[in-house]
Amino acid sequence: MMADLIITIDGPAASGKSTVARLLAQKLGASFLDTGAMYRAVTLAAMQAGVDLNDQEKLLDIAQTCKFQFSVEADKMIVCIDGIDATEHLRSPEVTANARYIAAAPKVREILVQMQRQFAADRQKIVTEGRDQGTVAFGDADVKFYLTADASERARRRQAELAGKDTGQTIEQIQKIIDERDKSDENRAVGPLKPAEDAIIVDTTNLSIEQVVEKLSGHVRGKCSKKN
Ligand code: DC
Repeated sequence: MMADLIITIDGPAASGKSTVARLLAQKLGASFLDTGAMYRAVTLAAMQAGVDLNDQEKLLDIAQTCKFQFSVEADKMIVCIDGIDATEHLRSPEVTANARYIAAAPKVREILVQMQRQFAADRQKIVTEGRDQGTVAFGDADVKFYLTADASERARRRQAELAGKDTGQTIEQIQKIIDERDKSDENRAVGPLKPAEDAIIVDTTNLSIEQVVEKLSGHVRGKCSKKN
C-alpha cells in the first residue's frame, strides 16, 4: 500500500523545508515526515555508542539493532531511540556536524529509505522533506518540490532559529558550516542533494514562509484538480 497523496520537498540546509513542509501538511490534512530527523537519530545513537563514524559496518549495525520510533506530536517529529525520547538532542551542533557520516553510508540510507516508505504506506497523505525524497525514496510522488535560497539568506535564517540558544556561533561560522554541509550533501555518491527532473524549483530567498506555503499549495491544488 502507498499513500494516496505523496508530496516531496527537497533542498539544502536551512532552505526552510522543514517549516514549509509542516505548514503545508497542516493545510492539506496530511502527515509530515522530517527525514533529516532519521539521519540525526542514527547519528546520535552512533555517538552514544561511541563507534567510529567512518566505520560503515558499525553504523549499519547501529541502524539495524537500535529501535527507532518516529511519531508526530503537536506538529513536531518525536524520535525515540531504544524507548528513550531523544528529540531534544537531535539538533545539537555535534549531531548536525556528524550526520554527514551517516548520510554517506549507502546501506544505512537503504534502511532509512525503507522506513520512509513504510511511514508513507501507513498514511493516506504525506508531505515528506529531506534531500532525496523526490529522487530516491518516492520517485513517483504526486508533486515534487525543490526549495532553494541564497547561502547568505540561509545563514541568516539559521542564525534567527538559533537565537536564544547559546551556541556562540557568529554568522560567518554559521555560513561556513552551511557551505560545508551543502558540499557534502551535493557530492556524496548515494542520495546526493539535487532536484528531481520533474521537481518544481522554488527560490525562497525573497519570500516569507506564508508566501512559500501559498505557492506550494497552489501547485498541489492544480495538480490534484487535474488528477480528479
Ligand atoms: O535536514 P536536516 O538538516 O535535519 O538533515 C540532517 C542530515 O541528514 C544532513 O546532513 C543531510 C542528511 N539527510 C540526508 O542525507 N537525506 C535526507 N533525506 C535527509 C537528511
